[in-house]
Amino acid sequence: MFEKYILLCLASLRMHTFHVIYEVANFLVLHHAAMKYYPARQRLTLPLQPGKSGKPVVLNAKASLSEYCEKGSGSLTVVFKDLGPQVYYSTLFFWEYLGPLIIYPMFYYLPVYKYFGYEGERVIHPVQTYAMYYWCFHYFKRIMETFFVHRFSHATSPLSNVFRNCAYYWTFGAYIAYYCNHPLYTPVSELQMKIGFGFGILCQIANFYCHILLRNLRSPSGSGGYQIPRGFLFNIVTCANYTTEIYQWLGFNIATQTVAGYVFLVVAASIMTNWALGKHRRLKKLFDGKDGRPKYPRRWVILPPFL
Ligand SMILES: NC(=O)c1ccc[n+]([C@@H]2O[C@H](COP(=O)([O-])OP(=O)(O)OC[C@H]3O[C@@H](n4cnc5c(N)ncnc54)[C@H](OP(=O)(O)O)[C@@H]3O)[C@@H](O)[C@H]2O)c1
Repeated sequence: MFEKYILLCLASLRMHTFHVIYEVANFLVLHHAAMKYYPARQRLTLPLQPGKSGKPVVLNAKASLSEYCEKGSGSLTVVFKDLGPQVYYSTLFFWEYLGPLIIYPMFYYLPVYKYFGYEGERVIHPVQTYAMYYWCFHYFKRIMETFFVHRFSHATSPLSNVFRNCAYYWTFGAYIAYYCNHPLYTPVSELQMKIGFGFGILCQIANFYCHILLRNLRSPSGSGGYQIPRGFLFNIVTCANYTTEIYQWLGFNIATQTVAGYVFLVVAASIMTNWALGKHRRLKKLFDGKDGRPKYPRRWVILPPFL
């Protein structure tokens, strides 16, 4: 049986048969009766020194084996971890966005409220129609961006993330759709609706432009690592794509005004803030101004003028 954590001593193997870490990963697939442990499923790290804590060094698949070899010994010990079944990032994003794209119009078009005990004729307000188009445009845009705009650095993600992320997006989609399309829904004033949707659409366009700027930081193969994002709102804020994402949901909520929509806004904003703090920290560390590396410019993290 292949255990979850396995210590492999490659000292006994002829080092010259391997040149890069990726070849070691392939070797593990072929020689351990474990075809299911394809390279994307493997995490190879250097062993932690006895008595030391912290995160182990993850081996770069494209790096040369000699970079990690123990000095003078010509041998290398690596720790294998099975990351579990993997899916492409595009597959993960597709399934998580498809749910809200289908669920929301179901509440708009189908007589679902009959099953919740509302027998009367349902009057659909213009704001409910615009909200449905706005919502569908947003998730359709995200799916298109997934396939045609983003250049991901990691090819795959654990399969379990599909279930976790779908639960998040599909549940919130149903929760918001239920209240926005409800027969007892009370619309806001026409002016408020126009301000909300107008502002939201502008933010969606800005969000799309931010994604184009991020895309241009990498080559089509996704290589190029992390660069300093520049231009447009990135000159002010590190995660301008999250800033515009949060504001476009604010626009939707100004126009539709439901508790469910604001709950989603708060949850999504806190998740993105957490990620933005990590991305800001990573860029500051990568671009520290030492040894010829550029210094990361002074910027807000996600929501100027607060953070
Ligand atoms: N409503 C919500 O709950 C919610 C939550 C999250 C996201 N979103 C939306 O989905 C969009 C995508 O989310 P995400 O978390 O994937 O965004 P992200 O990590 O900021 O980046 C989008 C793409 O740009 C790349 N990238 C980011 N910073 C880079 C840099 N400094 N240098 C080079 N490439 C860089 C990323 O590469 P990597 O593959 O290396 O990360 C990824 O491929 C967001 O912008 C937002 O509009 C919504």
